[in-house]
Amino acid sequence: MLVQVISKHFDVPDMNTLAVAKEHGAYAGLAEVFAGSPQAVHDAVCDSGLRGKGGGGAKAAGKWELMHHHEGPRYVIVNADESEPGTFKDRQIIEKDPHLLIEGIILTCYAVGANDAYIYIRGEYRQFADILQRAIDEAYAERLLGSDTRYGYRVDLTLHRGGGAYICGEKSALVESLEGNRGHPRLKPHTPSPEFYFGQAALVNNVETIASVPFIAYNGGEAYRAYGTPESPGTLLFGLSGHVEKPGIYEAPFGVPMLAFIEQVGGGVRNGKKLKAVIPGGASTPILTAEEVAKATLDYESLKALGSSLGTGGMIVMDETTDMVKALKNLLRFYHHESCGQCTPCREGTGWADRLLERFIAREATEEDLETLRSVSGTMNGKTICVFAPAASSVIDGFLKRFEEEFRACIKKA
Ligand SMILES: Cc1cc2nc3c(=O)[nH]c(=O)nc-3n(C[C@H](O)[C@H](O)[C@H](O)COP(=O)(O)O)c2cc1C
Ligand code: SF4
Repeated sequence: MLVQVISKHFDVPDMNTLAVAKEHGAYAGLAEVFAGSPQAVHDAVCDSGLRGKGGGGAKAAGKWELMHHHEGPRYVIVNADESEPGTFKDRQIIEKDPHLLIEGIILTCYAVGANDAYIYIRGEYRQFADILQRAIDEAYAERLLGSDTRYGYRVDLTLHRGGGAYICGEKSALVESLEGNRGHPRLKPHTPSPEFYFGQAALVNNVETIASVPFIAYNGGEAYRAYGTPESPGTLLFGLSGHVEKPGIYEAPFGVPMLAFIEQVGGGVRNGKKLKAVIPGGASTPILTAEEVAKATLDYESLKALGSSLGTGGMIVMDETTDMVKALKNLLRFYHHESCGQCTPCREGTGWADRLLERFIAREATEEDLETLRSVSGTMNGKTICVFAPAASSVIDGFLKRFEEEFRACIKKA
């Protein structure tokens, strides 16, 4: 069930040093790629069907293509903000194989015609930022980065530490923040477009997306497609947290059954308890009941068909003792705290829902509170600048749809 494409060298001691990374083949394929055309890298990514691994699952090649429609300097920006509860995969790449990410950045820059790249890393990831900076410094010293590289193409890479705001993981907020502004999402254009960094085209991709590029560039799109399903090709670093015997990050091809994954890879639910529910792809994906988990496979299509989303693949497992009202309250406190406040339905709605949940927890809720919660959730959906609020709304709706009786049990008797 498990494979090693991205994680092949995760267990190699000192893999985060350039010497050990090179012993295991890091950067060895660059010369050959740079002897060929940038289009060849682009074509391989296109053939692979690689989908973005930051949560949305957009086809990577489609986003790369957009870059070519813009003259002038182009930028590659790697999203390492990773602040979503339940998601902790990118930091594994950064900690255990940072040169894989740097190599992916070099190849991506070449493919899209960029010479400058940035990694925007979550502020709290201090120790991982230090590891990454050391790897970047080593790559500069060995002329793998810089203006005078051994492969003859300039790539400058800057690591930028964020201030610890979840919303700065949203790509346009990330670019705003990188420009030195407050991390507020921008209004989205009506037609497909790259991001714009100081007015110039910028490709924003997730850490794992970029770390997948070396395998694809060196082995071809077909080799990547050998894993996964036709619509969800390749692999993902799936996360397991919560009430599971063996929490952690495990690489698997898309399409494996979710329940078997939890049981066989995660050792099953902790302490022999029964499974109650799973949040399948980081906190912003609607919760699934145990019955739905038994039907789900770990790919974009299956989770969508069940009314949820694969998101980042970070599964939060909940056993039979979990109080769903408290679980939702926990998530709403997070959304309330992290809303950037630009849009009224989000700024007010997250706070309102959070406060309403307090009444449920105190068992002082009324029938009207339940209706108000539904209505507040409805106002947050589809009327905001970014998808933070619709995601929060889908989380509320997911809990109410699947575990309504637990919320009803908190309504005080007349
Ligand atoms: C509120 C919010 C937070 C996000 N946080 C992250 C994040 O931490 N890391 C990430 O890669 N993508 C995050 N995303 C998705 C990004 O906006 C963007 O789609 C992604 O970085 C694109 O990379 P990909 O195509 O490689 O997935 C977030 C989106 C939203 C709405
Ligand atoms: S939806 Fe929320 S997080 Fe997104 S821009 Fe509006 S207020 Fe900010």
